[in-house]
Parts: sequence; structure tokens; C-alpha cells
Amino acid sequence: MQFEGKVAIVTGAGGEIGAAYAEGIAAEGAAVVVADLDEAGGRKTVDSIRAAGGEAHFVRVDIGSSESTEALARATVETCGGIDFLVNNAAFFNDLRHEPLIECDFDYYLKVFDINLHGALRCVRACYPSMRERGGGSIVNQSSTASWMAAGYYGLTKLGINGLTRDLAHELGPMGIRVNAIAPGPTDTRALRSGAPDEILDALVGQMAIRHLGHPRDLVGTCLFLLSDASAWMSGQILTVDGGQTLRV
Ligand SMILES: NC(=O)c1ccc[n+]([C@@H]2O[C@H](COP(=O)([O-])OP(=O)(O)OC[C@H]3O[C@@H](n4cnc5c(N)ncnc54)[C@H](O)[C@@H]3O)[C@@H](O)[C@H]2O)c1
Repeated sequence: MQFEGKVAIVTGAGGEIGAAYAEGIAAEGAAVVVADLDEAGGRKTVDSIRAAGGEAHFVRVDIGSSESTEALARATVETCGGIDFLVNNAAFFNDLRHEPLIECDFDYYLKVFDINLHGALRCVRACYPSMRERGGGSIVNQSSTASWMAAGYYGLTKLGINGLTRDLAHELGPMGIRVNAIAPGPTDTRALRSGAPDEILDALVGQMAIRHLGHPRDLVGTCLFLLSDASAWMSGQILTVDGGQTLRV
């Protein structure tokens, strides 16, 4: 129960990886705000945390709107007294179109950037004043191994997340707020499968050091580590958790 008395916001916690993060953080004693555009998914995560004896609240948020992310921060402070942790996990990933950069619909391209990259910054801008007021905090951004590859606009948004992580670490460090990121490899969720047929996933797994897709729970330990004092002197880092997907031999 290392997070007793702490308050965490997990965006996209109605999805499978976000739910695993939210449940893991709640199991360590923090009050968790499950923030998602998808109310049904978010409420399911809240129910599962409460059933396990934890504290969770649902707040509907659209990270594409600064008004909405500010309302999320306000609701969290009103309900839980402040904010210590932010996990920026929400992204436009499910049913994502895969089109070449040189031909893609530019409005769609901008929309993916607006949610996946600018959405994370909107959440940080809304949440950091409460963290600063409480004497510090920890932020974990969700990147992807796609950020290290030629992976179209999705990969570019995650490369942006890596840069955002370093920049915000620099800006927020003097306020006692650390910012790190996790770059997961292919993790078995409905969203992953929506964009990758089984043959592609099988071929991918065949090249990985650990020959299976990740499970959302495989990412939780790293998230808890980056939020906790065990990583108190780490900031601006991107930790790859990928079953050896990006290992070069
Ligand atoms: N599954 C993988 O293989 C994999 C690998 C690397 C990184 N990731 C990243 O992990 C995160 C979670 O992935 P997942 O597989 O659980 O996908 P998912 O689609 O199940 O989860 C994303 C969640 O974000 C929410 N969301 C989308 N747009 C939003 C918005 N505008 N405002 C608020 N919430 C919004 C969705 O409703 C959903 O619940 C994403 O950032 C994804 O890019 C996934």
C-alpha cells in the first residue's frame, strides 16, 4: 500500500491497458480517477476497483478539449483533495486508419496528433498546479515502440510523446514533478487487434525475444515504479517494455 493518501488520474482507463494501470495503482492504496471518453468502459473499471476494496471515481473527459481536461482536474481536486499522479494513457488507437503520410487525409492526421500528443499536454497543463501545490508529483506518459519505427502518423505522435516527456521533465522538475514514459511493445488488447490481423501479429511475435504478445498486466509494474519513490531521481526517461521487440541482434 505504498500509495496510501495519494490521488491518481489515469486517462483512457476505460480501455484495457488503462484499466490495468488504474487497478494496479488503486491496489497500492491511491484514490484513482478513471478518466475516459467512454463512460461504459470507465464505469466498468471503477466497479472492478471498488469490488477489490479500492477507491475509484469516474470522470468523463475528452482530452481533445482543454475545457474538458481542466474540468477533469477541478473535479479530481473537489472529490479527492488534490492530484499526485497523472498517467497519460488515453489515445486514439482503436480502429486507427493506417495510411501513408504522403497521401493520408490531412484532417485525420491532425486529429490523431490532437488526441495522442496534444491531449497529453492538455492533461499536464490542467493537473500540474495541484501537484505543485502538494509539493510534487509524478507523471507517466504512454508512448509506444512505434515511436522508434517507421510507423506512420501513429508512430510520429508517440515520438512526440517522447519529446514531450523530456521537455516537461525539464520544465516541471524544479517544482518537484517528475515526468517519464513507458514505450510498450505489442500488447494484446482489442484495440491492437482492430488494426493488426493475426498473421501480422504472429510474424511480429516470431521476431521478438520473448515469443508472445504482452498482456496489459505486463506493463503495470513499470508504471508503479515510475510513479513511486523507487524512481525518485529519474525524470525525462522513456522505458521500453516490449518483450524484446526492438532488440537488435
Ligand atoms: N495495445 C498495444 O499494443 C499498445 C502498444 C503501445 C502503446 N499502446 C498505447 O497504450 C494506450 C492504451 O492502449 P489500448 O490498447 O488499451 O487501447 P484502447 O483503445 O483500449 O484504450 C485507449 C482509451 O483511450 C480512450 N480515449 C480515446 N480518445 C479519447 C479522448 N479524446 N479522450 C479521452 N479518452 C479517450 C478510449 O476510449 C480508450 O478507453 C494507448 O496510448 C496506446 O497508444 C498500446
